[in-house]
Amino acid sequence: MKKMVFLTGAGISAESGITTFRDSGGLWERYPVEAVASINGYHRDPELVINFYNERRHQLADVQPNEAHRLVAKLEDTYDVCVVTQNVDNLHERAGSHNVIHLHGELMKATSTANPNDPKCIVTLPATDSDINIGDKAADGSQLRPFIVWFGESVPMIEPAAEEVSKADIVVVVGTSLNVYPAAGLLGYTRRDAGIYLIDPLPNNVPSDMGIHVIAKKATEGMRDLYELLTGKAAE
Ligand code: OAD
Repeated sequence: MKKMVFLTGAGISAESGITTFRDSGGLWERYPVEAVASINGYHRDPELVINFYNERRHQLADVQPNEAHRLVAKLEDTYDVCVVTQNVDNLHERAGSHNVIHLHGELMKATSTANPNDPKCIVTLPATDSDINIGDKAADGSQLRPFIVWFGESVPMIEPAAEEVSKADIVVVVGTSLNVYPAAGLLGYTRRDAGIYLIDPLPNNVPSDMGIHVIAKKATEGMRDLYELLTGKAAE
């Protein structure tokens, strides 16, 4: 089986009703990114940040995977698929993808403030309405915090992600503004002979020297086109 890696961002979940970050009306227009998504912001006001992610977690109950997530999962019938996502939602998993690397963490997990990357401290929350509260403790006794990689923190999953990209026959970028590093640098690991596709209605920051096939459409429509192109079958 040929190996296919998806690099996905907020745009793939936009049609499910989850707001992107940098589009007009995006999340970072309403909330200062430095306050709610940086390690310094967390240390300044842990309650504000914990509540911000509690709200994002609640929202998962009201959204469903869309056709783009489902077609990514369906391609597992034909390809050895790995999804590398910057998203902290669980829509790829709920659509049926089996091999998902979350670069920026997961809303449904919590961890320790003192040792955020210690596997012994990472727990899966039981439900979308499970809140993290001030005073909740991780296994090491420190304050429980969202399992999110904030600005100012290292991105431990970048190495396995780069390894996957370097082995891929086909790389597909869906719905990311390619603004945030190191995630945006992953394209640099693609093999010279790999086919690269990019689906985004407003493509930007697209490297011009890599022979990238740009599909300037929304994720659902673009994934339908790509599915038909790669499998020769109609996307149902
Ligand atoms: P952005 O909000 O930066 O970019 C979203 C991209 O999706 C843009 O290129 C849009 O054009 C595109 N888009 C919008 N609607 C779409 C649709 N229906 N179908 C396909 N594409 C669509 O989001 P990311 O690139 O994912 O990190 O942001 C990367 C990181 O920045 C996030 O993981 C988050 C944020 O700060 C942290 O919080 C650490």
